[in-house]
Amino acid sequence: MKKNKISKNWVNKQRRDIYVRQSKVDGYRARSAYKLIEINEKFKIFKGGLSVLDIGAAPGSWSQYVSKVVKNGKIISLDLKKMESIKNTIQIKGDFTDPNTQKEIKALLSNGLDVVMSDMAVNTTGIKNIDSIQTGELCKEAMNFSKEVISPNGFFISKIFMGGTFNEIVALGKKIFKEVKVFKPQSSRKDSKESFIICKKIR
Ligand SMILES: C[S@@+](CC[C@H](N)C(=O)[O-])C[C@H]1O[C@@H](n2cnc3c(N)ncnc32)[C@H](O)[C@@H]1O
Repeated sequence: MKKNKISKNWVNKQRRDIYVRQSKVDGYRARSAYKLIEINEKFKIFKGGLSVLDIGAAPGSWSQYVSKVVKNGKIISLDLKKMESIKNTIQIKGDFTDPNTQKEIKALLSNGLDVVMSDMAVNTTGIKNIDSIQTGELCKEAMNFSKEVISPNGFFISKIFMGGTFNEIVALGKKIFKEVKVFKPQSSRKDSKESFIICKKIR
């Protein structure tokens, strides 16, 4: 398919999408907010006072939602891209896979984090296996990092792409956490291989 036909299809799809329309009403910067809202409805994760790390946070809809629900809690939002500011949020612009960025995050922490969440994704190639492997590597990096910074009853949430790396990611999750679930929210596009892994309680 030609490039301008693909982008026309994308624009039409966005116009029809109820979550895109709702995000404009609710003031969210991206439709992704509704995936996290569904995750929270199912797993009851967020409440006032929690400290949360949002990795791959731009343009910021997950942090916007969390900022509303944790109220006087603490949020650190990290992305390669610069973001507009969000109430109650410390923002870091950097590459999560860079050890210096991880040091910068740790320097901001006095206690363990209650939630580490990652919606990191590389620019998709359209080749499902490559997308799954690359996003899987980011998920594993975030999971290993969370082991060092999360409190004993903390939650880890991450985007994954169903594919070759799925079993490996679930196995790593089970090695680090006592409870591991995989969940695809309704608001995650049906034609996408995207899903989410939700882990709880460090071993
Ligand atoms: C799907 S978007 C996140 C959407 C976000 N959850 C929201 O609700 O607005 C994925 C983000 O991951 C970021 N990302 C990808 N690789 C990264 C890395 N190595 N370090 C930091 N951010 C990264 C991208 O820049 C992109 O903004």
